[in-house]
Amino acid sequence: MKHILIDADTGIDDSLAILYALRSPNFYVEGITTCFGNNCAEQSADNCLRLIQLAKCGYDVPVAVGANESLDGVFGSAPAYIHGDNGIGNVELPETTQEPINETACDFIIRKAQELKGELIIITTGRMTNLAMALEKDASLPKKVKKVVAMGGCYKVPGNVSPYAEANIHGDARAADMVFKAGFNLTVVGLDVTMKTFITQADVDNLCEYCLEECRPIAEYIKKALRFYFEFHRVTMGMAHASVVHDPLAMLIAEDPSLGVYEMVRAGVEYQSERFSGMITTDDGFVPVLDREEIAICIQVDSVKAVRRLFSVFQNMEPGRYNKKKN
Ligand code: BDR
Ligand code: CA
Repeated sequence: MKHILIDADTGIDDSLAILYALRSPNFYVEGITTCFGNNCAEQSADNCLRLIQLAKCGYDVPVAVGANESLDGVFGSAPAYIHGDNGIGNVELPETTQEPINETACDFIIRKAQELKGELIIITTGRMTNLAMALEKDASLPKKVKKVVAMGGCYKVPGNVSPYAEANIHGDARAADMVFKAGFNLTVVGLDVTMKTFITQADVDNLCEYCLEECRPIAEYIKKALRFYFEFHRVTMGMAHASVVHDPLAMLIAEDPSLGVYEMVRAGVEYQSERFSGMITTDDGFVPVLDREEIAICIQVDSVKAVRRLFSVFQNMEPGRYNKKKN
């Protein structure tokens, strides 16, 4: 069992990652912290609370609201045509009585790392601002957590918000630079692999046909949210009834690193140059500068296996179930 904390800017793909984590038998979700990005941190928290209710995971999952601007005080939000006005494709999930806890995201991260005594895995699916703020308060954090898996960055492929940068890293490049250099056991899952992994309408249809009865509301939500997300992919990338897979891939790799192939590099993030802000910089010189720990950047992934696994937690995988249904 992996004890995880998710730090998200809860948009459509974050929501899939969160639902997966809440249903996977391999994860215990210690809490979710939220950040600005796909929308503001409060809206992200509200989405998380509704998703927790939808997932019915059987245990309490605290939600802590986090940063609403970058370390340098800049708020930026994704345009509504990507994730909708509410971040989850304008799907109206039922309200809940659960409220965010009375603790900031960075304090919650520090407390959980302490409590879990080296067992906590942090998965970031948005800006790294909360984690960087936690580092500012507790520089020994990298020694206290088992691992960080982050969706973000573009290593050998173009960016999605500039030719050099991916949205999560670009949104707070200085925070990402801090996290990259802090000495975490860090795995970065970026556009090099997420842009080559696809969810299609056939996956959604399979999910709806074979989902567990208790997961039917989840399947209905995924169907509606992905309809919105597929449309964004159609108008911006010419993809028909399909999308790429960003945040869920980081979650799947946190669960099973063998899905990916990695390059170990000493890396940082450019944040001073406006043009190159958010670009991952690596030390690949002939004489290495050994001033920081290496991080793992995912360069290949088993996309087919990953996507099958993503939907499997909501489905009835019992052998013979299909035949039983036909009889
Ligand atoms: C990242 O940006 C956000 O829109 C997505 O949720 C994902 O985390 C992809 O660049
Ligand atoms: Ca995200």
